[in-house]
Amino acid sequence: MSGPHHEPPEVDPVTGYETTGHDWNGIKELNTPFPKIVIWALVLTFLYAVITWVLLPAWPIGKDYTRGLLGLSQEQQALEGLQDLDAKRSDWMTQFDTEDVAQLRDDAPLMALAMPAANRLFLDNCAACHGTEGGGGPGFPALNDATWLWSSDPEIIAETLRVGINAPHEDTRVAEMPAFDWMESDELTALADLVSTLPAGAMNPNSPATLLFEENCSACHGETGEGGLENGAPSLTDAAVIYGQDPHTVLQTLRNGRRGVMPSWSDRLSNAEINLLALYVVELAQEAPQ
Ligand code: HEC
Ligand code: HEC
Repeated sequence: MSGPHHEPPEVDPVTGYETTGHDWNGIKELNTPFPKIVIWALVLTFLYAVITWVLLPAWPIGKDYTRGLLGLSQEQQALEGLQDLDAKRSDWMTQFDTEDVAQLRDDAPLMALAMPAANRLFLDNCAACHGTEGGGGPGFPALNDATWLWSSDPEIIAETLRVGINAPHEDTRVAEMPAFDWMESDELTALADLVSTLPAGAMNPNSPATLLFEENCSACHGETGEGGLENGAPSLTDAAVIYGQDPHTVLQTLRNGRRGVMPSWSDRLSNAEINLLALYVVELAQEAPQ
């Protein structure tokens, strides 16, 4: 028995490389060396990985992980960023923790800082009922107009926010439209018709409906239906409505009464946030086309 027989490697005459000896129908494979650049790339990535393991957080150990020599933590960085923001915000936020809210309105740079934050507060807490732009909807008054149930004074608005309207708060504002279900049907219809025409013009002084209105409604809504800020009775003479001022909706209001509920915010928002929102609401009304 002789051992395997070794031929001297064949050399390709064109490139000068040895061939591997594999031969497919006369096509031969060259034995080219592994490219150096690939080897260097592998060495470098390997070194990079080792250095990162040493310097940066890398390996999980149980519930913890290796911190790395640099001690970097993105969690820590994020927390510090938030604290920074908070500190910047509380700088101006504390200024809203004041009795004299109205004065802050004149501080234009402060208002410019605060209004975007107020907008977020409004979207989070108020938009569900009053709409994202404060436009209101059936049962929820618009806040972006110049008509008010209680007041346009930011301090009084802040108080409304604190105690709520028909809310479970002990000092809540009470806005009660009593039911007039005891009235005759034709009286109700006459009143509904009268009320539905009020935004377009004054009452006819001597009509029976006007007399009914003076007797039953003026105490709260005013002699001419102009509304009463002291008891939250809306004006019936302007275009703004809570429920609607077409005869059908007014008839419903008269038959069943109304008692819209606005939550009290004193235990959900800070005093500064409430003042900020009161000013925001005033700004909304200011921006509205008059
Ligand atoms: C659950 C629904 C609801 C939410 C949430 C709500 N409101 Fe109201 N709000 C009402 C209703 C209903 C009224 C009218 C009550 C009535 O019928 O007199 C009202 C009335 C008001 C008024 C009085 C308007 C005027 O003309 O005098 C202001 C101001 C106001 N809301 C601001 C806010 C702000 C600011 C927020 C967010 C912190 C908010 N509301 C959240 C339902 C809501
Ligand atoms: C005790 C005071 C009081 C009396 C009396 C009263 N109202 Fe009201 N009225 C209110 C209040 C407060 C509201 C707002 C209720 C709410 O926001 O839920 C209201 C709401 C209304 C509305 C709804 C307006 C809207 O924007 O949708 C109409 C209409 C109305 N009243 C008509 C009348 C008429 C007509 C009479 C007389 C028959 C009358 N009210 C008597 C207090 C009163």
